[in-house]
Amino acid sequence: MRRLVSETTLRPRQLILPMFVAEGAAQPRPISSMPGVVQHTRESLRKAAVDAVRAGVGGLMIFGVPQTRDATGSGATDEHGILNVALRDLRAELGDDTVLMADTCLDEFTDHGHCGVLDADGRVDNDATLRVYAEMGVAQAEAGAHMLGPSGMMDGQVGAIREALDDAGHQDTAILAYSAKYASAFYGPFREAVDSQLKGDRKTYQQDPGNAREALREIELDVAEGADAVMIKPALAYLDILRAAAEVSPVPVAAYNISGEYAMVEAAAANGWLDRERTILEVLTSIRRAGADMILTYWAAEAAAWLD
Ligand code: PBG
Repeated sequence: MRRLVSETTLRPRQLILPMFVAEGAAQPRPISSMPGVVQHTRESLRKAAVDAVRAGVGGLMIFGVPQTRDATGSGATDEHGILNVALRDLRAELGDDTVLMADTCLDEFTDHGHCGVLDADGRVDNDATLRVYAEMGVAQAEAGAHMLGPSGMMDGQVGAIREALDDAGHQDTAILAYSAKYASAFYGPFREAVDSQLKGDRKTYQQDPGNAREALREIELDVAEGADAVMIKPALAYLDILRAAAEVSPVPVAAYNISGEYAMVEAAAANGWLDRERTILEVLTSIRRAGADMILTYWAAEAAAWLD
């Protein structure tokens, strides 16, 4: 009877696996604050991606970790940059078997670790950054990404990328907009995962955790600029925002079950304080119940295999 009346579904196709690929890595490198997650080599990325797709995940979101960085993040737009090279590998390997997504943001590629380029006063220059995102987005589409994930929270980023894609003949490349992205302490482990160089914080472009209304405004703007799906991030501490977004969004809603949420559960489970599998499935179910059509989660491949 519980099965008959169950409301919330959790299916492999609703899960998206974020993956890291490191330039010049000879071996996959463990990320200490995210046990079980690694910075892949090109080869190990390819294998893990095939396994995840075989397990039934709906998509892959790829982040690049370059060997060298500079002020403008030039590795992001370079066709030989690690992220673009890895996207090419994966598209050749997987074709259209999954939705291949790329992180469209500069923070992994800049030597100061900010999501954009800086002006003469050392502040993030919104509009100069848009021009780089546009170029980066086209490079990623050319490398084979089906969907771009602009995660830098610059104003106008969706519109700028959409226009550049269309001009370059990539009308079919979709945009998953990070619409409501909060300046969260839960990103801590991710900064290790991408060897982040950031010294300060991202409060001039990410949202204040106490503000709900502006999340809805960001969604409205992103949809008007051409977003094909919108994202709420983080997930667990923001389930109310996710619910509100799901109620009004005219496009599918994604939630990012981020690194800190992963680390908390893994740490507690490693101590025997939580039942790992039950906790993970409850977390993912709660994010679906709150209204996410899809969930980016580091557990995507493992959970997909359990659900199959
Ligand atoms: C920024 C970006 C971040 C994450 C995804 N894209 C970190 C940040 O804003 O500092 C975090 C993902 C996670 O914590 O799992 N490009």
